[in-house]
Amino acid sequence: MGSLTVSSAREITGVLDIPGDKSISHRALILSSLVKHSVQILNLNQGDDVACTRKALEQLGVNIQNDRKGILKVKCLDHFIQPKSSLYLGNSGTSARLVMGLLASCEFETHISGDVSLQKRPMERVMQPLSRMGVNFKETKGCLPAIQTGTRNLLPISYRLPVPSAQLKSSLLIAALSVNGITRIIEPALSRDHTERLMKFLDMPLKVYYENKERVLEVTGPYLPSKAKSILLDIPGDSSAAAFWITASLLVKNSNLRINNVCWNPFRNVFVDILKRMGGQIQTISQKSQMGEECTDIISQTSLLHGIEISADIAPSLIDEYPILAVAAAFANGRSIFRGLQELRFKESNRLETIESNLKACGVRCYVQNNDLFIEGKGFDSISNPIEIYPQHDHRIAMAFSIFALASFHPITIHQTKTVMSSYPTFYKELSKFSNFNPGH
Ligand code: S3P
Repeated sequence: MGSLTVSSAREITGVLDIPGDKSISHRALILSSLVKHSVQILNLNQGDDVACTRKALEQLGVNIQNDRKGILKVKCLDHFIQPKSSLYLGNSGTSARLVMGLLASCEFETHISGDVSLQKRPMERVMQPLSRMGVNFKETKGCLPAIQTGTRNLLPISYRLPVPSAQLKSSLLIAALSVNGITRIIEPALSRDHTERLMKFLDMPLKVYYENKERVLEVTGPYLPSKAKSILLDIPGDSSAAAFWITASLLVKNSNLRINNVCWNPFRNVFVDILKRMGGQIQTISQKSQMGEECTDIISQTSLLHGIEISADIAPSLIDEYPILAVAAAFANGRSIFRGLQELRFKESNRLETIESNLKACGVRCYVQNNDLFIEGKGFDSISNPIEIYPQHDHRIAMAFSIFALASFHPITIHQTKTVMSSYPTFYKELSKFSNFNPGH
């Protein structure tokens, strides 16, 4: 899968199942490696990112087996073993940061690396608090590759998160499980809470409360797994993956789509609220609870959208959806303003620049001022052929602009489509149900 030329869609109608949630999949693997129970995992995300977490755990000695029905079985160890080679975490920031937390109490040297994009992403935000807990990092300038040596005598810290990052928070929560004492993490701005939910589901010693209007997460370690029992983790569908198809169904004529079993976590479903405020006709039905998370089926249909202003305070809850929301804004009537997008600069690509340059390539009038993105809707009117999209090896950009192509009058060539393997390997197979695409030039 290199370049693909995607044509406009007939209609986005039918019933879709989507991959298991990527964020929850990482956490399911990592936290399962700490419990004494035999854990079975259903519907694990099949992308390369989660595969990197799995491989790292296997290198640390964790036994992970697939059975014939696709169920994954994880058996934990009394202690992790020193990996024989470097832990290579590919393109996955979540793997890198969460695994660094897991390794905090391991008294051996571990070499951690990643691909070119991961090597550019900031790791100082994780290394700094882990160092305060007693972890040693060498040969690093706040980025990967790094050599990490943990300690069995991790110190309890009280730490106010300087950035609203779920990866940073989760790394510290995982490290805190091995601390002898109370670790406090203070969250001035909230981010996705999958780690907290799964820790509670697995009876790990976490307390969540509010102090001076800030959320405090308190872990009383060390975590001593209780008597073995069997646990089934059935991972809900990925809401960030669903966002692409929901938006496609709003934009393409005559569409009516149902997506089954989407994770309905309040820090992840905010994009649905935004699309509804833009005029999107979206309903949720059949809510249920699964491994401590809410899930729902989502029905959406063709809608006339209008521009919207999104304030900076909810940016952490939309962080992975801005690329597809930018596409929705391009097809909406009127101006949209997305405020406070500084964290987008530190994703798989500099997403703020990548969104802007590719929208412009599609003829959409837009600009970035400070960290705010301004998009003038109805950009597709001015599309000029041929259009080529360069996602800068960022899966969410490739998928968002493939949806742009489904909604536009002209075919669009998307380069580097292989990047969708990070989170959604079957994305183009799904897309082929709605549209034609050919190998690009
Ligand atoms: C993730 C958190 C988000 C998100 C990423 C997955 C996670 O990053 O962008 O795709 O699983 O914790 P931050 O909250 O760290 O910015």
